[in-house]
Amino acid sequence: MRFRHKSLIVLLLAALATTALANVEPLHAQHGIVVSIHELASKAGVEVMQAGGNAVDAAVATGFALAVVHSPAGNIGGGGFMLVRMADGKTHFIDYREKAPAAATREMFLDAQGNVIEGASEIGYKSIGVPGSVAGMVYAEQRYGKLTLKQVMAPAIRLAREGYALSWGEVQDLHDKHLSEFAESRRIFQRGGNYYRPGEIFRQPELARTLERIAAKPDDFYHGAMAREIAAAMKKGGGLITAEDLAQYEVKEREPVRGTYRGFEVISAPPPSSGGTVLIESLNIVEGYDLAKLGDRSAESIHFTTEAFRRAFFDRAEFMGDPDFAKIPVAQLIDKKYAEAWRETIHSENATASKDLKRPAIFSELEEYAAAHPQPVENHEAPHTTHYSVVDAEGNAAAVTTTINDWFGSRVTVDGLGFLMNDEMDDFSSKPGVPNLDGLIQGEANAIGPGKRPLSSMTPTIVVHGDKTLLVLGSPGSSKIITTVANVLMGVVDYGMNIQEAVDAPRFHNQWLPDVLNVEQWFSPDTVKRLQTMGYKVEFGLHDDESVVPYWSDAECIAIDAKTGERLGASDYRNSGKAVGY
Ligand code: DON
Repeated sequence: MRFRHKSLIVLLLAALATTALANVEPLHAQHGIVVSIHELASKAGVEVMQAGGNAVDAAVATGFALAVVHSPAGNIGGGGFMLVRMADGKTHFIDYREKAPAAATREMFLDAQGNVIEGASEIGYKSIGVPGSVAGMVYAEQRYGKLTLKQVMAPAIRLAREGYALSWGEVQDLHDKHLSEFAESRRIFQRGGNYYRPGEIFRQPELARTLERIAAKPDDFYHGAMAREIAAAMKKGGGLITAEDLAQYEVKEREPVRGTYRGFEVISAPPPSSGGTVLIESLNIVEGYDLAKLGDRSAESIHFTTEAFRRAFFDRAEFMGDPDFAKIPVAQLIDKKYAEAWRETIHSENATASKDLKRPAIFSELEEYAAAHPQPVENHEAPHTTHYSVVDAEGNAAAVTTTINDWFGSRVTVDGLGFLMNDEMDDFSSKPGVPNLDGLIQGEANAIGPGKRPLSSMTPTIVVHGDKTLLVLGSPGSSKIITTVANVLMGVVDYGMNIQEAVDAPRFHNQWLPDVLNVEQWFSPDTVKRLQTMGYKVEFGLHDDESVVPYWSDAECIAIDAKTGERLGASDYRNSGKAVGY
């Protein structure tokens, strides 16, 4: 997702618009498959499956490999969620989201006047949350994998030590101006100013050594010498994370959220992600409309779906946060009766103005909570993260979304250890009601607090038909993650697309505030005109102060053919990912 370069966007648009439907067949694999943003990471997962590993081994191998070959988002210095559904139907949701350090305070990103200090939660040491990725991947491997940690980390260690050839796009990414603000990041990723060129081999010896140390003694990252080294580097840079914070970090297994949609079971991410709840609430609302009959990407089907997104994001802003710190009314939000009440507020031909939205008063829990909290205000939209999907030969599946939040996270590389740290503190509300990097408004439940997990939109999702896994879905894209997953899911279920078509199909997005309907560049101007007459403010692409990006997200998904059992891998044609199978 390197559409930060405006000149490139224009060229790409011309090329992509004509190739939009050129390759509509997913990759067909007979046994196991991995779909990710980088071919080498997908290959790492397949390599361990071919060596006898299962989907979890492959997910962990892919995750560590992404930390090497996809530095802007793949990581060991961030966090993520892994949703596993084994072939016998058992599910596991592993939460390894970052946590705020103990010294974090509610006002840490505010100035003396109580205003948000721009950029403070996004760049540099104070923006870093206690990373959970190593703990989460090690936990998943030890509980649910078949191989050893050393075996599944071998491909990542090899890639870090021997290096890999950088593509043109990866080289452009490494020019990131904020990376140069941190000496260790500038030394490693920008070769001290002698920037890498396309085709050059990028070797990361410090990261290779760190990965070898994790493979040999994983606990060292949180309780041993490595924890002390990380804490010392954080202190030196003015950060808050201490060895004690690392020692206190814990992975949580949680119950995923579950809903149904037109007879399919949808299993997705629970709080501290808002993803599954907002997805299921949206699907419950649109279930009342015959979208297939209204027609794929028709103004009417977009209207009803947008109204559903608007309402679910309105609730997201009000209620969502870390469930270990606040009661989150998930059961009410995903209740079909609540969706029915919401539907009654949707006009058949006119858009609802976001500012006029009124929550149906059918659940006292929601009313009492909302009455106690001020309604937030609006703002901007911006960009990074990565998702990958795995299915093995037995039919076990894993959907994993992992992040360091912004592209290259906080831009801080830990001295001597060769890995980038997240800026996940920006996912908290720096000030309830004021938007974060993603333009998202969030309420009291997501205020900063020591030891708390910031609210996420990551939505690793598995769709089941009968007792069989049908779809493994997910994407990066901040707030657009949720609508991207919904767009792909509805593409298959409502519009009869194959998984590749559903991934490639043009997306649309609304998140309550700002009150805008974003559509990707490929939408028909006629449809857009019709939507405008319905009252929508439609924007082609995503706009911010500096640029317009024509398309978004990176859905890396799998379907399983119910008849043949074939694994069908769909990597998003918007980016340079790859499905690899055998
Ligand atoms: O957890 C979240 O929701 C965000 N940190 C995700 C950021 C993201 O997806 C940016 N990617 N494009």
